[in-house]
Amino acid sequence: MKLTEDQQNKRREFLTKVCPTVAFALFGVSFLEACSSDSPSDEGATGVIDSSSGYGGNDDQSSDDNSSNDTPAYTVDGDTITADLENPFFDNLKNVGGWMNFTEEGVLLLRTSATQILAFDNCCPHAGTSSSWSFSASSSRFTCGNHGNSYGTSQGGTANCSSGQTSGNLARYTTTINDNQLTITK
Ligand code: FES
Repeated sequence: MKLTEDQQNKRREFLTKVCPTVAFALFGVSFLEACSSDSPSDEGATGVIDSSSGYGGNDDQSSDDNSSNDTPAYTVDGDTITADLENPFFDNLKNVGGWMNFTEEGVLLLRTSATQILAFDNCCPHAGTSSSWSFSASSSRFTCGNHGNSYGTSQGGTANCSSGQTSGNLARYTTTINDNQLTITK
């Protein structure tokens, strides 16, 4: 039976949401294979199930490792993201100076001390690019690779997303850490 384009879109959307465990349980291997080709992959970060939670895994892990990790790396409730810092997904934040582009939620994260991780909007103030960031520990500035502009991590002087500004500080979110749970409030 040939599916209409609308039916195919609904099927793709369903598979994206339930892959891989539920699809496998319900439909077997052929659907699981469909999952692997339709699942989103963004910036190498892996295992995102939907917009309200993400499952562990990072660039160093195999997909097999991800599938066996059933503890969410983070959850989202409105404007609040709660991240489990013990999850391998956030391994880059273990040491002071470590950072990651948490693209799933549009946030740059930077550990500045044992008890503090800063969070910034990952939307470049210049033209909105979110995926080309690098960080210099010596200057404590993030540089967007799209046009090479760099932005500070201090408070104040905020350069907002896509405002055309080529200097200033990235928009910062409120963060707290309790029991290895990082809370980011946008
Ligand atoms: S979009 Fe980031 S520097 Fe231009």
